[in-house]
Amino acid sequence: MKPLSDLLQTHDFTARHLGPSEAEQADMLAELGVSSLDELTETTLPEAIQFRGELKAGEGVTEAQALADLKRVAQKNKVFRSYIGMGYHGTHTPPVILRNMLENPGWYTAYTPYQAEISQGRLEMLLNFQQVVMDLTGMPISNASLLDEGTAAAEAMTLAKRQAKSKGNVFFMADDVHPQTLDVVKTRAEYFGFEVVTGDPTAELPEGVFGVLVQYPGTYGDLRDLSPMAEKVHAVGGALIVAADLLACALVTPPGEQGADIVVGSAQRLGVPMGFGGPHAAFLACQEAYQRSMPGRVIGVSKDVRGKTALRMAMQTREQHIRREKATSNICTAQALLANMAAAYAVYHGADGLRTIAGRVHRLTGILARALQNAGLTPSVTFFDTLTFEGDAAAIRQRAEAKGINFRYEGNQVSVSLDETVTPADLADVAEAITGQTVDVLALDTQAVDGIPEGLKRTSEYLTHPVFQTHRSEHGMLRYLKMLENRDYSLVHGMIPLGSCTMKLNSTTEMIPVTWPEFGALHPFAPADQTEGYAELLAELEAWLADITGYDAISMQPNSGAQGEYAGLLVIRKYFESRGEHHRNVCLIPASAHGTNPASAAMMGMQVVVVKTDANGNIDFDDLTAQAEKHSENLAALMITYPSTHGVYEENVRDVCDLIHQHGGQVYLDGANMNAQVGVAKPGLIGSDVSHLNLHKTFAIPHGGGGPGMGPIGVKAHLAPFLPNHVVRDVSGSQTGAVSAAPYGSASILPISYLYIKLLGAHGLRKATQVALLNANYIASKLAGAYPILYKGKSNRVAHECIIDIRPLKQACGVTEEDIAKRLMDYGFHAPTMSFPVPGTLMIEPTESEPKAELDRFIDAMLQIRREIQEVQDGLLKAEESPLKHAPHTQDDLMADEWNRAYSRETAAYPSKHQKGWKYWPAVNRVDNVYGDRNFVCSCPPVEDYIGA
Ligand SMILES: Cc1ncc(COP(=O)(O)O)c(C=O)c1O
Repeated sequence: MKPLSDLLQTHDFTARHLGPSEAEQADMLAELGVSSLDELTETTLPEAIQFRGELKAGEGVTEAQALADLKRVAQKNKVFRSYIGMGYHGTHTPPVILRNMLENPGWYTAYTPYQAEISQGRLEMLLNFQQVVMDLTGMPISNASLLDEGTAAAEAMTLAKRQAKSKGNVFFMADDVHPQTLDVVKTRAEYFGFEVVTGDPTAELPEGVFGVLVQYPGTYGDLRDLSPMAEKVHAVGGALIVAADLLACALVTPPGEQGADIVVGSAQRLGVPMGFGGPHAAFLACQEAYQRSMPGRVIGVSKDVRGKTALRMAMQTREQHIRREKATSNICTAQALLANMAAAYAVYHGADGLRTIAGRVHRLTGILARALQNAGLTPSVTFFDTLTFEGDAAAIRQRAEAKGINFRYEGNQVSVSLDETVTPADLADVAEAITGQTVDVLALDTQAVDGIPEGLKRTSEYLTHPVFQTHRSEHGMLRYLKMLENRDYSLVHGMIPLGSCTMKLNSTTEMIPVTWPEFGALHPFAPADQTEGYAELLAELEAWLADITGYDAISMQPNSGAQGEYAGLLVIRKYFESRGEHHRNVCLIPASAHGTNPASAAMMGMQVVVVKTDANGNIDFDDLTAQAEKHSENLAALMITYPSTHGVYEENVRDVCDLIHQHGGQVYLDGANMNAQVGVAKPGLIGSDVSHLNLHKTFAIPHGGGGPGMGPIGVKAHLAPFLPNHVVRDVSGSQTGAVSAAPYGSASILPISYLYIKLLGAHGLRKATQVALLNANYIASKLAGAYPILYKGKSNRVAHECIIDIRPLKQACGVTEEDIAKRLMDYGFHAPTMSFPVPGTLMIEPTESEPKAELDRFIDAMLQIRREIQEVQDGLLKAEESPLKHAPHTQDDLMADEWNRAYSRETAAYPSKHQKGWKYWPAVNRVDNVYGDRNFVCSCPPVEDYIGA
C-alpha cells in the first residue's frame, strides 16, 4: 500500500500545468541527446548565469487547498458600498456577460488579433466598443482601448502637442480633474519637457498653451458648458481634451458637440468590476484630423479576397514598433477583454437601457440633493451623479462606515457618487449617514433636483446601429456572444505558438478568484483597513517576485510591459537626478529590441542609440563597447532582453552588464522572456538593475485578446527609493509621480499570478521553465531539417523559442512567412510571431503547457507545408496557384459551385488527417490590408455587409 504522502496529490497541479507527461519528456530529451531536464538546462544556459539554489515559493499545493487559503486572504478585504467616485463606480456586470465573456476562456485566452482571419469575433466586439465610445462622446473616431483614464489623458496630451498649431509648451489642466489623472499627466509631461499648469478653466488661459484638459463632469461632480473653453483654446491654436464619463454622456450634451478635439475616459462603469483599480478599458476618441497620430490600436473595416466584409487592426504603421525612437506612445498590450465587456454591456442594454440606467442614477442623485438641502446642507448645483458639500465630515464618516459605506472626504468636504447598483434602500442609508436623520426616499421623488442645466441636456441620438437593438433577450445575447467567440481562435482550440508572447495555460483555478467580490468589488481608494486582504496578497506576491528575479523591491503599478519599461526608465532617471547626474540621458538599445523599448526611452526624453547585433544575433560587443565609451559621460542605460529577442541565452551577458556599469550606466533587462529564467537564472544575479515582468506572459495572466496585462517592475536596492508613488495612496514613500491611475495597477488580476506561483511552488516553477526549454528545443530539432533555425546558442540550443528563416524560401519561390502563417490556419493552428524581430521569419514559442501530441501535430503541419512549398520550388505548381497563396480556406470557398483551383477541395481545407476529426474554420478569407487603410472606417458597418448581401 502507498503511504499517505504519495496519495495527497500535492504536486498534481505541476503535472497538469505541464503539457508533456514524464514519459513523453523522457522521449523528447532523448531526441535532444540529453538524459534529464537538469542536463538540458546545464548544457543550454551559460555557466555564469545559472541559479542552482531553491526559490522561496514553497512546495506547491493542491488546487483545492490554494483556493481555500486564498479565500481566507480575500475575506480580510471588506466589501463596502463605495460611493467615492473619482472615475471608479459600482456596476452590475450582466451575468450573461460575466459567465460567457469574463469567465470564459474562449474570450480571455485569445491573443491580440494580429491574425485577422481567425479573430473576427473579438474584432467585431472591439468595433462595437469604438462605436459606443464614438456615439456617447459625439466624436468621429475612437481607438480600441488604452490602459486607464490617467494614461489616456497623458496620451491625449502628447497627441495634442503633435497636432496643435500652437507652438506653446504649456499644458493646462482644470483644477477639478481627478487627482490621479493629474499625477500621471505630470509624470509624463516632465520628460517631454511640457509645463503643466492647473487652474480654473473658465478664467483666462496662461500664455503658450497647446492643450487644455477638463473633466466632464468635474471630479466634484459639476457640469460645465465646454463650448466657451473650446473657443478659447482654439483661438490660441491649442486642442481641447475632455475626460468624460460615458454614462453621463447618455444624458448630457457630449463633448464632441461642444468643440472637443480629443475625448478620453474609462469604460469601467459599463459593466466592468472596479477590481481595486483595474483592469478596465480606457478610451481615446478624436477628430478625424488626428487619426493618423492616434495612439493605440484601432479596428478598421476592410474586405477579404472574396470581397466579404472583414475586420482588422487598421493603420498598424502607426504602432510603436514602427515609430520606435520617434514614438510619443509606447502602448502595446491594452485592455481588449474589458473593452469587449463594456461593448457587450452597451449591446445588451442598448440606448434605451443606458438612458434608463443613467436616468435612474441621476434621479437618485437629485433626490439625495433634495434630502441634503432639506437638512440644511448645500450640495452641488449642477451634477450628473456626484454631489459635493461641506459638513461635519468626521460624524458623517463615522455613520457611513458603520453602515458599510464609503464617501470621499477632503477636510470637511464630502463627495458622494452614486451608481447603477444604488437602490432606493441604499439611498436611504446614504441620506441617513449624511444627515443623521431617517429620509423617506420615495416621498422625495417628486421633489428631486435636476442637476443637468437646460443647455447641457443631450438631444442627439446614440447607439442607433442595429447591433445595439438586436440582442436584448438573454438568449439573443448569449447566442451573439457565442457566435463571436466561435469565430475566434483561442487556446481552447489549440496552441498559439507566438514567440515573445508566452501563451501558456491560464488554469481555471487561477482564474476563479478574479470574480470573487472580495477582489472585484473594491474601490481603488478604499481605506487601508478595508483592503488588508489585498495588502497580504501584494506583500506575498512581491516577495515571491523579488526572489524569483533577484531584485530587492517591486512596484505593482504598471499595467503592461511597456508601462513597466517606462516606469523602470523613470526610476533610473530619478536615481541619476538624486546624484546630480541630470545629464545622463543616453539609452543604448540593440537593433533587435522590441519596439516598445526605444519608444519608452523616447518618452523618457532619452537619446536612443542603437547597438548592432552580430551574425549570430547576439549584441555586437565591439559596437557596444564603442558606443558605451563614446557616450560614457551621458550614459543612462542599456536596455536588453534576456534571453534575447532572438531566442538565445547570450553567453556574455554578465560582461555586457559589467561594461555598462563601468561607464556609470544602469542595465534595464526586459523581462518579457522571463519564462526562460524562472528558477534557473535571475536577472538581478545576472547583473541587471531593473526589469519589468509581463505577468500576462510568464505568470499566467491570460492575454484577453489584447489585454489586460500587468507589468510590475523589480529593482535593485539603490533604485528602490525612486519607485512610482501615487497621489491618493502612498505606495512607495518616494517623491516619484504615478505611472498608472490606480496605486497597484490592475490589482484584481494579481490573484492569477499569485496562485500560479503558489500552486507550482519552487520545484514546479523551475520545472515549468525547463519544460518550456524542452518543448522549444524539441520543435527546433524536428523542424531544423526543413527550415533553417536562424539563431542558436550554447550546445546548438535555443532558449524557450526559436526563429525559423523563411527568406530563402521566399527568394527561391515567392512563398512568404505570411503565406505559411495563413496556411497554418487551414491546419487548425494560430501562426507563430511573424517578422519579429527579423523580417521574413517566424518565431515559435510553444511554452511548457503544450502536450507532446500538440507539438507533434504542429510539427507535422509545418513539415507538410514545407512539402507544399517544395512542390512550388520544383515547378509542379506556380506559387499563385498553390494552396499557400489562397490560404486560409473558408467554408465559402468549399461551398462555391465552381472549383477551378490546381488542388482539391480536400487539400484546401482538410490538408491533414487531424481536420477529419475536428475542423476550425476561419471566418473570412485573407484580409486585404491595403484596402482597409486606404478606405479607413472604424465604425460598425451595416449589418447586411456582414452577411454579404
Ligand atoms: C520583448 C518584449 N518587450 C516588451 C513587450 C511589451 O509588453 P506589453 O505588450 O505588455 O506592453 C513585449 C510584448 O509583446 C515584448 O515581447
